[in-house]
This record gives sequence, C-alpha cells and structure tokens, in this order.
Amino acid sequence: MENEVQKKRILSGIQPSGDLTLGSYLGAIKNWAALADEYDCYYMLADMHTITVRQVPAELRRHTLTQVAAYIASGLDPEKNVLFVQSHVPAHAQLGWVLDCYTMFGELSRMTQFKDKSAKNADNINAGLFTYPCLMAADILLYQPDFVPVGEDQKQHVEICRDIATRFNGIYGDTFKLPDPYIPQVGARVMSLTSPEKKMSKSDKDPNGCVYMLEKPEDILRKFKRAITDSDTERCVRFDRENKPGVSNLMSIYSAVTGRSFEAIEAEFDGKGYGAFKPVVGEAVVEMLRPIQEETRRLLSDKAYLESVYRAGAEKASYVAEKTLRKVYKKVGFLAR
Ligand code: TYM
Repeated sequence: MENEVQKKRILSGIQPSGDLTLGSYLGAIKNWAALADEYDCYYMLADMHTITVRQVPAELRRHTLTQVAAYIASGLDPEKNVLFVQSHVPAHAQLGWVLDCYTMFGELSRMTQFKDKSAKNADNINAGLFTYPCLMAADILLYQPDFVPVGEDQKQHVEICRDIATRFNGIYGDTFKLPDPYIPQVGARVMSLTSPEKKMSKSDKDPNGCVYMLEKPEDILRKFKRAITDSDTERCVRFDRENKPGVSNLMSIYSAVTGRSFEAIEAEFDGKGYGAFKPVVGEAVVEMLRPIQEETRRLLSDKAYLESVYRAGAEKASYVAEKTLRKVYKKVGFLAR
C-alpha cells in the first residue's frame, strides 16, 4: 500500500443546537455523502459551539444523538467517514486556547456571526461567543484538511481560520495546512420562507420561515404553500435575486433538490404563476427527505449502534488531532510531559 496516493482530506461540522434545517441539509450535509470515495472525510457534531448560546442540557443531548442518526441517514457511511462529537476530542479545546492567543481582538470584532448573535442574545454576550472563530479554527486545523465544505454564511470563519494559520506558520514555520472553503453552486444560501432577505435559521423566531429535516410532511407542505412570494406584477417564475427574492429562493431550493437548472425550471412553470410552483417545491422537498426521515427514526431506535459509531469516530479523530496538538505544543515551547 506504500504507493497508494494520499487522499485529500475534508472536515466540516454542524452545531446540534436544534433540529437540523433544510438550509444545513442543502448547504452542507447533502453534498458530503458524495465525497467519501474521493476524500478522507471527518464530520463533527459541534456541541461545544452550541453553549455560546444557552441550551437546555437534555435537549442538547437529544439533538446531538439525533444528528448522529441524521448524518448516517443522509448517506454518511460510518465505515467511510469519521463521524464524531467535538467534546469527545479534548484537543479541540486545547488547540482552541492556543489559537485564542494568536488571534486579534480587532479580527474577531469584525465577524458577522458575532455581530448577529450578540444582537439576538443581548443578555448573554459571553467571551465564548466572541472567540468562537478560534475554536472553529482549531476544529479545522487539527485535521490538516484540504477543504472545508460549508454554506456561504461560514465562509468568513474559514477565512479567519486561514489568517490565524498563516500567522502561526509565519512565527513557527509550517505547522498547519491552509484549508479552502468548498461552497456548493446551489443551496449555499437557503433563505427564510417568510423573510427571504434573511438566512433560513433554526434561531429564527418565525416558525414558518424555517423547514426542518425531520419535520412532518404535512407541515413542510404547508410552509411551502404559505411561502412569501414577491409583490411584483409579473408573477412569473423567473430567477432574479434582487427583485424577486422569494421566488428566487424557492427556485434555488427546487434546483438543489432536483438538480434542474434555473432555465429548465423557468420553462417548466412558464405561464403557470406562483400558486402552481409553491406546492411542487414543497412536494419535492418532502420526497427528498422522506427516506432520510425513515432511516433516522430507525437508527434512533438502535442507541447501541449510534454509540458505537460516535465512540469509534472519537477514537479515529483523536488520533489525528493529538498528532497536530503535540506538534503545536512543542512549537510554542510547552515542556513535554
Ligand atoms: P451551523 O451549525 O450554523 O450550520 C451548519 C452548516 O450548514 C450551513 N447552513 C446553511 N447553508 C445554506 N443555507 C442556510 N440557510 C444554512 N444554514 C446553515 C452552514 O454554512 C454550515 O456549513 N460554525 C459552524 C459549525 C462549525 C464548523 C466547524 C463548520 C463548527 N466548527 C468547522 C466547519 C468546520 C456553524 O455554526 O454552522
């Protein structure tokens, strides 16, 4: 096997801070399953990030376990992908601290997610929320990945991760590989169904704006039927993010689900108007999610299996992560134990 070419590596993660959304599915998970043959893939459940916002402990545990099941049900074969829980690999917190000391206050102050989340949680603007990008940089850099597949909203965090790595490498010599974000062509920015100028998000106050991966089909359909379309007089299905954000969002979702181009979708609904389009998108989403929902439910009834998956994942992840951590500790001058 000595001649085997080393596969390029991928790492990504999702916070189990609630039920997974259609945005996380289309922007991230859906694209992950196809990468397993070509890449060496690590997918994390970013539970440590979730406590930057107050969580109900029992709910966090439930969401984490459900997310393990949903990863597998979405096609991530645990034999081919390393699936692990962030808090099970202490190296994340350990490298996170080191990187805190190589990240500037000014850099962190410019992060859009910090600004958004501190506005939403004005009574809990904690230090973790502020230094979150350092922990995320640690999540990534520990695994020396080539690519980080994420939705558009996480691009800034991958960029600051590169900046931190570049700074560290500049001081201590090559330590971290610089990763590239890997953002899908369609589905990278799924917007709320009720306020299409905002990202679809589980923290959205309006329950009708966000669709969940494990939601009942009838609820998904209802949300799509009620989705806000635009008040333009044209009323035809045409892609125009600027002037028709509602319809364009539905077109992006439909395109991500069916693989059809915007031109093909425009032709399919030519002369039909918004009323015909919305339920078709809803149904396509329901059909895409149906087998995943069934498989998630089946897996959740086998807790012992899920446990075996995340235990094995933590072991494999720790092996790689600790190797990088040892290198970093040595470089900064910590005395070896
Ligand atoms: P999180 O948990 O908010 O989102 C998980 C993934 O889903 C994508 N996503 C979306 N894509 C398109 N449209 C949307 N409406 C939408 N909402 C979410 C996100 O871009 C992301 O890819 N900080 C990260 C989690 C994280 C991470 C990491 C990611 C922690 N450590 C290391 C990559 C590498 C986060 O909060 O994503």
